[in-house]
Amino acid sequence: QQLDLELAAIEKGGYDHFMLKEIFEQPSTVFDCLRGRVDAANGTITMAGVEANIDILKNAPRILIIACGTSWHAGLLAEYIFEELCRTPVEVEYASEFRYRNPIVNKGDVIIAVSQSGETADTLVAIEKAKEQGALIFGIVNVVGSSIARVSQAGAYTHAGPEIGVASTKAFTAQLAVLTIIALKLGYEKGTLDNKRFLHLMNELQDIPEKIPAALNQAEHVKQLAYKYKDARDFLYLGRGYNFPIALEGALKLKEISYIHAEGYPAAEMKHGPIALVDENLPVVFIATKDSYHEKIISNIQEIKARKGKVIAVITEGDDVIAKMADDVIEVPAADELVAPMLSVIPMQLLAYYIGVAKGLDVDKPRNLAKSVTVE
Ligand code: AGP
Repeated sequence: QQLDLELAAIEKGGYDHFMLKEIFEQPSTVFDCLRGRVDAANGTITMAGVEANIDILKNAPRILIIACGTSWHAGLLAEYIFEELCRTPVEVEYASEFRYRNPIVNKGDVIIAVSQSGETADTLVAIEKAKEQGALIFGIVNVVGSSIARVSQAGAYTHAGPEIGVASTKAFTAQLAVLTIIALKLGYEKGTLDNKRFLHLMNELQDIPEKIPAALNQAEHVKQLAYKYKDARDFLYLGRGYNFPIALEGALKLKEISYIHAEGYPAAEMKHGPIALVDENLPVVFIATKDSYHEKIISNIQEIKARKGKVIAVITEGDDVIAKMADDVIEVPAADELVAPMLSVIPMQLLAYYIGVAKGLDVDKPRNLAKSVTVE
C-alpha cells in the first residue's frame, strides 16, 4: 500500500491532485495538439483526416455534433465557430437524446462525435445509429484505439495525454483546439473565410499555449475566492456568444467537484427567469472577456448588481470598466473572441477545483461519477 501511495504521488508530478496537474498541463497539451497541424508562418493546416475527406466535408449540407457532458460543451462552442467560419449549418445533440428519438440524417451529412474516453456508451450507440443512416462519422477522441476511434471512418486525436481526474479539463481545451483547426481548414477550403482572417486566426490559435500560463498564474487568487464563496448554496454562470458554452462548462465543473448547485445560462436569457434567484447570497460568475458582446454583458452585470447579487467576473487583462463594477475579477490575456474560450475556461476549472478542495472533497473521484460512462 505504501508503494501504491508513492506511485500515485509520482504520477501526480508534485501536484496534490490529478485534476490540478491536468489543469496545469494545458500549455503543453494544447501545444501538442497544434504541433504539426497549424503552421501560421507558412499559412498551412495539415490534418490527414480532414484532407482525406475534404470534398465530403466541404459539400456537407449539415454537420451534426454528437457528444455528452464536457465534450458536448466543446461541440456547442464548435457550432458557433463552424457557422461563423464555414457557413455550414451545425446542430449539436446530446448523444443520449439523438439515440432515442427518430433523428433526421440526410445524405451527405457529416457527424462529428466528440469524446475524451472514446468509450461513452451513449455516444457510441448514437454513432452506430447515424452510420446506419449513411453519414460520415468523424471522431474527435483523446484515447488512442478506443471504441469510438475504431468505429469512426475518419477523425483526429486530441493528443492531450491520459486524463485521470474525473472532471475533464485538458481534454476540453484540446477538443476546442482540434475543432477550431477543422473549422479553419474547412472555412479556407470552402472560401467562406478570407485569407487575411484565416492567417490572423491561425496566429491567434498558435499563441494560445503561450497565453495559458498567464491564466494559470491566477491560481492563488482564485484559491482565495474559493474560500470566500465556498459556502454558497447555488451559483449562476453567465456568458454570451463564444463564452456561453464556457458558462455551461463552469457550472458543470462546480457541480461535479464541489457538489454545489450551479446553473449555466446565456447572460441575456437570465432576465427570462433565473433573475428571480438573484439576491445577496447568490454568486454570479460572468465570463465577460472583451468581445463583440462586451457592452451587452456590462448591462447584464448591472442588472445583477442592482439586485445585490455578488459578481465574480472573468475579464480581459486591463478591463477597468468591469473591474469597477464586479465584486471580484479574474484576469485572462486578450485573444480573438473565437479562441478566447480556451483561456476563459481556465479560471472555471481552477475555481471548481479550489472550492472542492476547500470543502475537503475528493476532487479526483467525485461521488457517483465514473471517468467514462459505459452504460446507456
Ligand atoms: C466532464 O467533467 C464529465 N466527467 C463528463 O461530463 C464527461 O465529459 C462525459 O461523460 C463525456 O465523456 P467523454 O468525453 O469521455 O465521452
